[in-house]
Formats: sequence, structure tokens, C-alpha cells
Amino acid sequence: MKIFLDTANLEEIRQGVALGVVDGVTTNPTLVAKENAPFRQHILDICGIVKNGVVNAEVVSTDFAGIMREAHEVASWHPNIVVKIPMIPDGVRALSALSKEGIRVNITLVFSAPQALLVAKAGAYFVSPFLGRLDDIGENGLVLLRDILEIYRVYNYPTQVLAASLRHPMHILEAAKMGSHIGTMPYKVFEQLFHHPLTDKGLETFLKDWGKAREVLGDIMAPAAAAPKAAR
Ligand code: E4P
Repeated sequence: MKIFLDTANLEEIRQGVALGVVDGVTTNPTLVAKENAPFRQHILDICGIVKNGVVNAEVVSTDFAGIMREAHEVASWHPNIVVKIPMIPDGVRALSALSKEGIRVNITLVFSAPQALLVAKAGAYFVSPFLGRLDDIGENGLVLLRDILEIYRVYNYPTQVLAASLRHPMHILEAAKMGSHIGTMPYKVFEQLFHHPLTDKGLETFLKDWGKAREVLGDIMAPAAAAPKAAR
């Protein structure tokens, strides 16, 4: 499963990318507004950090002509940009036109499987079901994810499922088990994936035991005597 960071914060993106396991970034108007910087330059700065990964940048118009105008503009900024468009009728109409032009579109704010069916038919590159926000209203986001993946498998739709609004590592685990193509998560959740209390405890014990026997063990970085031949 590809891992995307759901943030527009350059420092978080820099730190995540340095770890070598981040495949892309999703932004939305709320996340971008927090950064208080001109939109175009900020998205280009993100592209510069993510390098080979995709960067999702969202339009804010809600009528067909406006969405088309903004989508063409945003897509022209950098080849790695995927244009995010909300799941509204004019958004799907724009998606149908843009996908025929070869512009990659991520349809966002998807909360039902029939919505996901429509966007696959219209040629979406990504579909973004929001799991956490469904959980927030007492529904089950993972059920939605399973339904979308099943429909896409049955009909062989090439649209990639981008599980969004992931709030905790169990969301990521379940999305990966179901075969979601991508999971996008806030930096805080990404950090949580690295940790386990037994890893910390185990490492502490290893280092303590090494320290006790240090004089005998020597220094790993000390110049070697002749190296033994590798076993075949
Ligand atoms: C996805 O692209 C969205 O930006 C995001 O996952 C929304 O998540 P939230 O519900 O945590 O705001």
C-alpha cells in the first residue's frame, strides 16, 4: 500500500520524505489555509520535497466552468500534481472532461459506494473515501472502503482507492489488509506507525547489556583485523 502524508506543512513533509517510505502528499483547502502562504508557490514547494511522488492539490470552485478553469491551472504547475475535485455533480462532469484530456483527478469527499461507482465510471485516477469522518457520525468507514474495493475489483476499474481521513494505526492496518491502493494520514498517525512499546523496551535492554560487556566486545567502528571470508 502506498503511504501519503495528509498535510501541507513543509517541515512534516520533509521529515516524512527523509524516512524513505512516503509516496505522496494530499492537501485540502483547510490544510493549505493553515500554512498561510501563497497557494501556487506552496504546492510547488511541496512538489520540490516529494520529488517523484504525487501531490494532490484541490480546486475551490463549485461550478463546472470554474472547476475546469482551476483544474487546468493547477495541473499546469507541475507534472506530479493530481487535481482534487469534490464529489458534486459539476465535479463529476468536470472529471469526465478532464480524464479525457489525460488530466489526473482525485475525487474527494466520498462517503458512499454509489458515489465511488460514479467517479470510477467518469475516469477518476484516485477516489478518496473519508473513513474517519464517517466513524465520527456513528457509521463505519471501513465498511465503505471494503464496498468500494469490491465494486472496483468486480468491474476491474483502474481507479485507485485512496483511503483518507485515517485517524489511527488500526485504520491503516485494516486498509492495507483489504488491499487499498493508498492510505493518506496526518503526520501524527504516520509517526505512530513506527512505534511499539516492546521495540523501545527491547532496544533499551540490548543497549544496557552491550554497555555491561563493552570492554570485551570492543568498538564496532574499530579498524578490523583481516576480515574472515564470507560463508557460502
Ligand atoms: C484527504 O485527502 C483529506 O485531506 C483528509 O484525509 C481529510 O481528513 P480529516 O477528516 O482528518 O480532515
